[in-house]
Amino acid sequence: APVRDLAGRRVVVSAGGTREPIDPVRFIGNRSSGRQGVALAQAAAERGAVVTLVAANLAQDVTALVEQAGVSCSVVRVESTAELREAVRAAGADADVVVMAAAVADFRPASTPDAKIKKVPGQGPAPIELVENPDILAELAHDRLRAGQVVVGFAAETGDKSGSVLDHGRAKARRKGADLIAVNAVGAGRGFGTDANDVTVLDGSGDVVGQAAGSKREVADALWDAVVKLLP
Ligand code: C5P
Repeated sequence: APVRDLAGRRVVVSAGGTREPIDPVRFIGNRSSGRQGVALAQAAAERGAVVTLVAANLAQDVTALVEQAGVSCSVVRVESTAELREAVRAAGADADVVVMAAAVADFRPASTPDAKIKKVPGQGPAPIELVENPDILAELAHDRLRAGQVVVGFAAETGDKSGSVLDHGRAKARRKGADLIAVNAVGAGRGFGTDANDVTVLDGSGDVVGQAAGSKREVADALWDAVVKLLP
C-alpha cells in the first residue's frame, strides 16, 4: 500500500493541452496527451490527497481514475486557456498544492467569429492575429491563492546552442517563481505521447532537489516526494 503522506491535503493538477478557438470548428492546439498529469493525479489520490484534475482535452479516458475505490479525485473538463485558468484558480483557492502539468498555449487568436471562416475562391488565406495568453503558473506563483500553497510547474526543454536542457530549466525556474519545476527533456522517445519520462526537479532558485527516470507514474511519485518535503 502506498504511503498516505498526502492525507488531508487538497491538490489541484492541470493536465493535457489547451485548445484556442479560431472559429466555431477550428482550433490551435498541441500534442500533449495529458498522461503525466493523470499519473500525478492518480499518485496523489492514492497517497491520500483530495484531488481536482483540471483536464484539458485528454487523449485518455479518465473515468477509471475517478471511479477507483478508495481514492478521491474529481475531474473538471476544460478546453481553452481561459477556461483552464478559471478552473485552476477556482479549485486552487483552498488547495495546499497546485501542479501545472498542462501544456498551455502561449498565444490565442485575438478574436473568434461566431460563424465558420469561409474559403473565398481566388482569395488567399486571411491572417490569424494572435495575442499572448496569461502565464497561469507565473500568476499562481506571484499572487498565492492561499498562504503556504506549494506551486509546481513543468518545463519541457530541448538542449540547443544557447544551453543544455537543465540550463533552460534553471532559467525557467527562476523566471516563473514556482516552488518546484520539473524539467524534462523532450524528444527521442521521451516526454510527449510516451509512457517514459525523465525529470529533474528544481527548486525556485534552480537547485536540483530530485531526479526520476521511468514511467510517468514513477516520475509522479518522485515529484510528490519533493512536494511533501515543502508542506508545513
Ligand atoms: O514557459 P513554458 O510554457 O515552457 O512553461 C511551462 C510551465 O508553465 C508549465 O507548468 C505550464 O503548465 C505553465 N504555463 C502556464 N501558462 C502559460 C504557459 C505555461 O501556466 N501561458
